[in-house]
Amino acid sequence: MTAEEFVRDLEAQNQAVLKRLDPDSTLKPEVQGDLTVLNLLKVALKNEIEATEIASRWLVATDDVEVKMAFARQAGDEAKHYRMIADRLRELGFDARGFDPLAQGFGPLFKYLDSLETTVERVAAGQFTREAIAVVKNRQFIEFCDRAGDQITATLYRDVIEPDERFHHQLGRSLLLKLATTPEAQEAARRAAARTLTLAEELQGAALRTAGIHHAPGC
Ligand SMILES: [Fe+2]
Ligand SMILES: [Fe+2]
Repeated sequence: MTAEEFVRDLEAQNQAVLKRLDPDSTLKPEVQGDLTVLNLLKVALKNEIEATEIASRWLVATDDVEVKMAFARQAGDEAKHYRMIADRLRELGFDARGFDPLAQGFGPLFKYLDSLETTVERVAAGQFTREAIAVVKNRQFIEFCDRAGDQITATLYRDVIEPDERFHHQLGRSLLLKLATTPEAQEAARRAAARTLTLAEELQGAALRTAGIHHAPGC
């Protein structure tokens, strides 16, 4: 199939799975324990630093200028998100300066992404798919903030972070249109996207079981 057909197909497949991450279908938007905006923002710091790091690793690993600058743009945005979230945490009473979100090491999704060796897989997994997941998770988090009465955090996500993540997904789309032109490339991209979604579902399931977390924001 053409790259256009492939990307349309992959988007449809991704969206079918992402519906399962949607709280309206399977997850009840409930708060358990001390599930607070503050604690969820600490999870967000880890997601943002991992997204910054993986985009940075990939930007130095390619000679393709368009790909390099797409990862550079993403890395800069994720670092900006990190700072904005850290600033918001300080307003909420938590000083993130002495906090290392990577103290426990990188997570399973980061490790999987870091294992990918071709640009088409990286773009399919790290931008096209992961950023689509981020958009869904951020929508859930915005609802959570609204219910918690935290308009400032809700607005930060609604006006800045969520639109940036949507743009990262679009960067992935335009690169996939350029790169997913052969059956081999399309198959590799499809596999990487599927694995990313599976890991995201597993992680969300684990977060739900161990910490009651439904709404951790994505990046
Ligand atoms: Fe992002
Ligand atoms: Fe981000």
